[in-house]
Amino acid sequence: MNEDIQISAGTLQHRLGPAPAVAVLLGSGWAPFAAQVQGGAEVAYADLPAFPALGVGGHQGLVRAGHIGSTPVAVLAGRKHAYETGNADGMLGAIRTLAAWGVKLLLQTNAAGSLDAAMRPGELMLISDHLNIVQRSPLIGEPGDHRFQDMSSAYDPALRAQARAAAAAMGSSLYEGIYAWVLGPQFETPAEIRMLRAFGARAVGMSTVPETIIARHAGMKVLALSMMTNMAAGMENEVLSHAHTLATANAASERAVATLAAVVQALEV
Ligand code: HPA
Repeated sequence: MNEDIQISAGTLQHRLGPAPAVAVLLGSGWAPFAAQVQGGAEVAYADLPAFPALGVGGHQGLVRAGHIGSTPVAVLAGRKHAYETGNADGMLGAIRTLAAWGVKLLLQTNAAGSLDAAMRPGELMLISDHLNIVQRSPLIGEPGDHRFQDMSSAYDPALRAQARAAAAAMGSSLYEGIYAWVLGPQFETPAEIRMLRAFGARAVGMSTVPETIIARHAGMKVLALSMMTNMAAGMENEVLSHAHTLATANAASERAVATLAAVVQALEV
């Protein structure tokens, strides 16, 4: 194991205690979830050599561990995106550290554009599968046959069923569908969105897929929730902007956070 990962996992163990089964990676719009974690302690990414240095602009870069109800959980606030560098491996060390610490499930969250006219901004979608149309991999340069990672059932079917049941039990609507990863940072053209819809995508976003590949390769299970922040390009007469994405995410975050908290407590990892 890489020395930075060993040191980082040791620091998490020392400062936060034994690993919880579930780590939640918070995407745009999901930051308020961190406040749901009670009685916890925090470690800054800056103290973890395997973790990325985050650019300026709102991302704090913290691992926080505590409980939601009686369920132990860790949250990661802050993600390195491939559009920052062109590389898909920005979260490689961080996610391998979680696996080395002992985390079993990476539960990802993100903000996404909706390709389904019925799935409006503010709605939530469980990712059933993904389209890596960027065709970049965080595993480039990995030695050995282990690099040929199986990606069928990447988003754990049994845990997805548990998540659906948890959302239904609290009356929170939850869509399910295929997430297409685009590199960004520019939004898509209407022609690109028509292509993605023809490919079967129901949502589009600029994250999550590299982290899913890393986590599966590291032996972890994966579950992912997208929050729709806008209708995708060309679907409505709307100019897309990051400010718009964040404003919609803030408006929708209360139900999203409550749903995520219920899901975390319901999962049998
Ligand atoms: N496209 C890509 N990424 C996104 C979008 C979108 O429409 N909305 C939020 N993240």
